[in-house]
Amino acid sequence: MPSPLFRCAASFAGGTRHHARPASPFHDAADGSAPVGSCVLEAQRPYRVNHYDTSAAYVRAQVEQSLRHLHTERLDLVLIHRPDYLMDAAALAGTFAALTREGKVGHWGVSNHSRSQFELLHRHYPLQTNQLELSPLRMDALDNGTLDQAKQLGLRPMVWSPLGGGRLFTGDDAQALRVRAEMTAIAARYGIGLATPAFAWVLRHPSRPHPITGTGRIEGLREATAALDVTLEAEDWYAIWTASKGHPVP
Ligand SMILES: NC(=O)c1ccc[n+]([C@@H]2O[C@H](COP(=O)([O-])OP(=O)(O)OC[C@H]3O[C@@H](n4cnc5c(N)ncnc54)[C@H](OP(=O)(O)O)[C@@H]3O)[C@@H](O)[C@H]2O)c1
Repeated sequence: MPSPLFRCAASFAGGTRHHARPASPFHDAADGSAPVGSCVLEAQRPYRVNHYDTSAAYVRAQVEQSLRHLHTERLDLVLIHRPDYLMDAAALAGTFAALTREGKVGHWGVSNHSRSQFELLHRHYPLQTNQLELSPLRMDALDNGTLDQAKQLGLRPMVWSPLGGGRLFTGDDAQALRVRAEMTAIAARYGIGLATPAFAWVLRHPSRPHPITGTGRIEGLREATAALDVTLEAEDWYAIWTASKGHPVP
């Protein structure tokens, strides 16, 4: 396991919130697959309609605000939180380049971008990652090409809500009940807690994702990092897939 570097990733969604959350550790595991925490600073911005904004002025203002909030001179990684349908990729790349040249940002990435949206921006500026949702309860990224793209480009994805935002433990819908039952049996067989196989399931993907844990507990972090020592058998990985889908593979 690489030595932990506690840093922050800022991500900008376009001003839909009105507060800054306190920083939690972002583990910049460039050479490992450790679960990571992230820090999201959200903008104070008057607006009439929720929307995304990737203009130079907005991105620059958010970077500078994050620098002030974090009392730092440089953000290691900044993600564009959601695709902006009005994005001018060449202009945004110019903003990335300027802020990087000024030493304010180390690396850039995106979140929740489709394969083609990632490719469009990546052609103009080398992105570091696409932060995607993936868990035993949400598997779209397995089939929509985003994880395949990450693998193809050798750019390890970040994964948000690896525990389904807690639904894995508390959900009472049919899917959550099926997955919880299957994972409880697997966890007992491997001698681990219920959260650990969920992280191990994410980490087993060949794109070598960096899962982001949202836990607020030290024990929750221990359960997450324990997954680094667990390699799920393919049959166990598919047993979780099967429980999630409610049917076997075709
Ligand atoms: N890019 C995006 O669009 C996007 C969207 C959502 C989130 N994110 C990022 O991804 C991070 C992780 O997402 P997330 O918070 O949804 O992560 P998550 O790890 O899937 O869910 C965290 C929740 O699971 C609970 N939990 C963990 N272990 C548990 C256990 N053993 N028993 C019961 N509950 C347990 C946690 O409660 P405890 O605190 O009690 O452990 C917490 O409420 C967020 O912090 C955020 O930075 C990004």
